[in-house]
Amino acid sequence: MTQAFTQLLLKWNNSSNHRPMPWKGEKDPYKIWLSEIILQQTRVEQGWAYYEKFVATYPTVHDLANAKDEKVLKLWEGLGYYNRCKNLILTARYISKKLNGVFPNNYESLLSLKGVGPYTASAIASFAYNLPYAVVDGNVFRVFARFYGIHIPTDTKEGFHLFNKIADENLSKKQAGVYNQALMDFGATVCKPSTPNCASCVMKKTCVAFLNNQVNQLPIKVKSIERKKRHFDFFCFYSKGKWLVQKRLEGDIWGGLYQFYLNENKSVPPVNLGYLHEVLVNQLGISSKEISIPLKQLKQNYEPVSPSYNQALTHQLLQARFILVKFDTIPAVFSKALWVNQKQLNQLPFPKIINQFLGQDFINWCKT
Ligand code: ADE
Repeated sequence: MTQAFTQLLLKWNNSSNHRPMPWKGEKDPYKIWLSEIILQQTRVEQGWAYYEKFVATYPTVHDLANAKDEKVLKLWEGLGYYNRCKNLILTARYISKKLNGVFPNNYESLLSLKGVGPYTASAIASFAYNLPYAVVDGNVFRVFARFYGIHIPTDTKEGFHLFNKIADENLSKKQAGVYNQALMDFGATVCKPSTPNCASCVMKKTCVAFLNNQVNQLPIKVKSIERKKRHFDFFCFYSKGKWLVQKRLEGDIWGGLYQFYLNENKSVPPVNLGYLHEVLVNQLGISSKEISIPLKQLKQNYEPVSPSYNQALTHQLLQARFILVKFDTIPAVFSKALWVNQKQLNQLPFPKIINQFLGQDFINWCKT
């Protein structure tokens, strides 16, 4: 039997859901997969342009599989969580080479792909093949918690099982793809986290939270995430039109992306002679003679420090400053380092927090 919720949702979808998106109604599993991986990362408004860039640059899974890692990472730049992009590349290569470009067409095989979890597998299975798998995420929790007036926290074992069960019971088995997309759209445009549009909502006569004036209290979550604070000082070493950059290693955030020389601190020290001496001479082994130029600049009240930039990751709060250090001649310890000119700098993939800084008047700052 079709649930009242399902009927109302599909009715709303037919009459009032005006949310055009380039992946909507798409049947090519490759493009659906691309859109879903991008949308794991960002909101629809921002994801839209990334999706179009990816589809235009790599129209088929073979094109993506054959691309250089750095080119794909560059296209992904700004989306963050670069492991997702690396999984995207690995999965494209697996499908292109091992499956001859034929996308898996059942839920279990989709789920076994790197970077594809239950939500994405359900989305692809239902959109591409109309298979009866319900999408379940924070938006879906919210819609059901409100419609059914559920006070069990969503982030408990009990809540998880209950919401999954409700999601399955409400899924339209005949129109799984249309239903899933409608549910996502309904959660994003009507049953929004704050200021939901209850007044004009088709569900209001049967929405338990609305009838009990509890819309703003639901859904309930018990855990709040603790974020570790990290303080980064990026030293922008500059000499004769070139900057020193390093490729980050795997094992921490941003593996495979580029950065300026990083000094991480437990707090935010003042940038004075003592600090510069500590990093440049004690830590890096630059000789006092070579360092005399940056130190002289500092003594002349030259301002080598950028304002602070902040970025929140799921488990970390990052704060970054950029410290410009110019050398007349490249110090001996850096003779084997990677020095790049402006054109190369623009082509390398950087973390978002560095790109924000590069977008400012960085080049002029270095060249004056
Ligand atoms: N979020 C994740 N997948 C989505 C989709 N297909 N449409 C809108 N938002 C989404």
